[in-house]
Amino acid sequence: MKIRIDTRTLTPDGFGIEVSGFDMSQSDDQSGQVLTQAFLDHGGLLVLRDQTLETPNDLCQFTALFGEVEHNEKYDPRYLLPDYPEILRIGNTMENGQYNALFIRADPSPLLWHCDDSFRHPQPMGSCLYCVQAPPSGGETGFAGMAAAYEGLSETMKSRIDGLVTIHSYDHLNKLLRRRNPHRPPLSDALKQEHPPIRRPLVACHPVTQRKSLYLPLCHIEGIEGMAATEGDALLEELQAHAVQERYTYFQHWQPGDLVLWDNRCTLHAPTPFDDENYSRLMYRLTVTGPQISAA
Ligand SMILES: [Fe+2]
Repeated sequence: MKIRIDTRTLTPDGFGIEVSGFDMSQSDDQSGQVLTQAFLDHGGLLVLRDQTLETPNDLCQFTALFGEVEHNEKYDPRYLLPDYPEILRIGNTMENGQYNALFIRADPSPLLWHCDDSFRHPQPMGSCLYCVQAPPSGGETGFAGMAAAYEGLSETMKSRIDGLVTIHSYDHLNKLLRRRNPHRPPLSDALKQEHPPIRRPLVACHPVTQRKSLYLPLCHIEGIEGMAATEGDALLEELQAHAVQERYTYFQHWQPGDLVLWDNRCTLHAPTPFDDENYSRLMYRLTVTGPQISAA
């Protein structure tokens, strides 16, 4: 299939691209190559609109253009789309008085900037969200380009942070989320054992583009190896404040039919709050595995 790329970039520094003239039900090798290149060339953020979901298979096939589609073993099976273990429902929809989607109440400030599952190896290299239902306002997703953010650091800061190692922990994240989400259970011993804290570089090298980026999902990070907590926390917060400035970020104001794919190796994303007592939000999320970051 021949596809037309609308080269509207989404931030002044070239992070993110919106593609038009493509119907995801027509995914094939050729469109996969074009879209993958656009995705990589624009810092790992691809936005498509007006996508009709004839069948969830279309979403699985589209996502498979970018890597091997993962299943969702670590989530409550009630949150998965029936017959589609690849598709995690995210939102506040309910069935028989219980959430049938993973619901995380977003913090208004600070936003929970993160990349998906940096606390496990292999990390999903990419994730996508397809919007089924959106509230009239709020419930956006912010995206931040970490390669551009790294390149925008001073040379002094670059040499200060090159080579530093951070500790990422699922339990640390879960405790943080439980403060605003009491419906979320503590991590089971089995999950704690399956996901022990792991070491990650603070500056990552992308395995395909070789671009350096900040690797800074702050809410997953317990601290910087070998650095006192006060000094480490101050440094990480300073870096995050730099990385999520307006010039490096794009906010997706969701409409049903929107489809966004991002690269967890070189971007951050964050949800914004919405009026979850009066409105519903439902997204389908898929993740793909692929080549991993290395220390820069
Ligand atoms: Fe996420």
